[in-house]
Amino acid sequence: MPTNKTLIFAHRGSAGTHPENTMVAFQAAQDLGAEGIELDVQLTKDQIPVIIHDEMINRTTNGTGWVKDFTYEEIREFDAGSWFSSSFKQASIPSLEELLQWATSSDLLLNIELKTGIVRYPGIEKIVIDLVKKYHLANRVILSSFNHYSLVEVRKFDSSIETAILFMEGLFEPWNYAKVVGATSLHCYLPVATPELLKEAKAAGVRVRPFTVNEVNDIQSLLENNCSAIITDWPEKALTIRETL
Ligand code: G3P
Ligand code: CA
Repeated sequence: MPTNKTLIFAHRGSAGTHPENTMVAFQAAQDLGAEGIELDVQLTKDQIPVIIHDEMINRTTNGTGWVKDFTYEEIREFDAGSWFSSSFKQASIPSLEELLQWATSSDLLLNIELKTGIVRYPGIEKIVIDLVKKYHLANRVILSSFNHYSLVEVRKFDSSIETAILFMEGLFEPWNYAKVVGATSLHCYLPVATPELLKEAKAAGVRVRPFTVNEVNDIQSLLENNCSAIITDWPEKALTIRETL
């Protein structure tokens, strides 16, 4: 992975301008020139990994209910674009496989967040790893999770895919803790990404990619501090700022 500039990851695709976690949002991020995309993965009733942030489909589709209670065939039928704008009414909830297949013809880095919180989805780690390997994308994937047991589970099956600790605050010396769970990067809540944390993490060889970095001042500050990457809803804004620095 390139390390000489702060990389721009488009959060949930390009969530500021497109319906989050849909193929049209990921395509927009790629077209803009973002180096990476971030996406959220959960399992359907028939164990198919699909890309959606919430455990329920209520907020981002025209349906109601839990992701885990729909088969893949059923969940594909919902409209995942109109809630954002009627011009996106063709959008559906993508499968992870669809995204990975699409990504084989790009250079994008793929930050796949394993949503193993409220609903645990036993076995999701192995299912996702197998798919990533099927498409030979291990060297472009970062698996992250707020559930650090999930990251340890990843390491049971694979030693090559980068893993990242997602956290909000209150973690003591996270750059050291990362190593305990076999992770090499920290995806932290923006206010936690202080110059001190960036310095300590860099010294420990741990990458930092704060989320969700949307304000001009925050973007500028992290770019100036040579942060590894930022995760933003507004990749175009971040790319423009980076060009002018
Ligand atoms: O991966 C960074 C960020 O996406 C984590 O929070 O709630 O947007 O998934 P959330
Ligand atoms: Ca996420």
